Amino acid sequence: MFASSFQGKNVWLSGHTGFKGAWLARWLVQLGARVHGFALPPNTIPSAFTQVGIAGLMEHEIADVRDAGAVKKSILRAEPDFVFHLAAQALVRYSYEHPLETYATNVMGTAHVLEALRSLEKPCAAVIVTTDKCYENREMDYAYAEDDHLGGHDPYSSSKGAAEIVISAYRRSFFGESPVSIASARAGNVIGGGDWALDRIVPDSIRSLQRDEVIPVRNPHATRPWQHVLEPLSGYLWLAATQAQPDLVGAERKDVLTAFNFGPEKEANRSVGELVREILKHWPGRWDDKSNPHDLHEARLLMLSTTKARRVLHWQPTWKFETAVANTVNWYRGTHEKPAAAESLMLQQIAEYENAARAQNIAWAIK
Ligand SMILES: NC(=O)c1ccc[n+]([C@@H]2O[C@H](COP(=O)([O-])OP(=O)(O)OC[C@H]3O[C@@H](n4cnc5c(N)ncnc54)[C@H](O)[C@@H]3O)[C@@H](O)[C@H]2O)c1
Repeated sequence: MFASSFQGKNVWLSGHTGFKGAWLARWLVQLGARVHGFALPPNTIPSAFTQVGIAGLMEHEIADVRDAGAVKKSILRAEPDFVFHLAAQALVRYSYEHPLETYATNVMGTAHVLEALRSLEKPCAAVIVTTDKCYENREMDYAYAEDDHLGGHDPYSSSKGAAEIVISAYRRSFFGESPVSIASARAGNVIGGGDWALDRIVPDSIRSLQRDEVIPVRNPHATRPWQHVLEPLSGYLWLAATQAQPDLVGAERKDVLTAFNFGPEKEANRSVGELVREILKHWPGRWDDKSNPHDLHEARLLMLSTTKARRVLHWQPTWKFETAVANTVNWYRGTHEKPAAAESLMLQQIAEYENAARAQNIAWAIK
């Protein structure tokens, strides 16, 4: 699995108290890594972080990426072999209310991590996580590739586009001869158990189902490339493991130290309405169309090209849309019925995902 790259290694992971960070932390611990987390306290109640008991599995530091000194001290102390930077203000609607906080966290926070990495005098593979929303979305039937224009209509999307520009500039200006390698990863809309964020369709649906209420759906016709959280995480892990390969030289190395999209197959580009109907197959309930033409602007159509990840990393998605939704709802339903099962359900889904990838001969799972 991942060429045993994480066994006994030091990993600095920001955002481990968040949804994706909690899954990544648990997977890394399972892969034998010593994980050092850096994040603000969980911003939802409940959270995957508390439900799964992540704090007991790793070194756990509550700190702010807007504090350059704290980031540098933490990274240098952790002496990481790998860095995964996930900490971010990750919500589009919140970013309209708090644009400065969003830019400070997502742009300067990323610059602080890169600046700290400049002082690290040892080999380290870093993956900085942005989003599919970093592209200038032309709302056309088109799959965005890594060299497409960056942009973003709203503060969140543009903050991630700006972070990508900062990453690229830092890489070219400071990391040419450095033992530290930097890549960035852009993924689409992620679903999975343990996301409790506001204004995201899956947690909104689950909250309604738990209370036996009708699910209010704001944008039933918006299309998104839905994928289970383990899909981009396998991409981030394999991108980092590939960067760390000692025999990676020349053009091959240059190819890996860039930006990568990790998205689902085209069949998973589904509307919010289709997603909700799929959720209800596993947890019966009702939903209602609550679209408001005066609502804040949210991008409608967004698809990612994964040609580069397939060509360079031999990465591909593992689970189909239906399997991703089934696992997502089963985690929420299972922990609703038996809260103590949160960690075992997470580990079971990680094992099932690894097995499914192995059965498909996907590179990271068979190396
Ligand atoms: N969830 C998705 O659908 C999705 C899609 C594409 C990209 N992403 C990206 O993946 C990453 C993780 O997303 P998520 O869904 O887990 O988000 P989340 O909101 O669940 O978690 C965010 C994490 O960042 C931390 N954080 C926020 N501000 C911070 C600060 N100032 N200092 C230190 N830590 C801070 C939080 O404490 C938390 O640990 C983000 O970079 C996000 O932009 C998420």
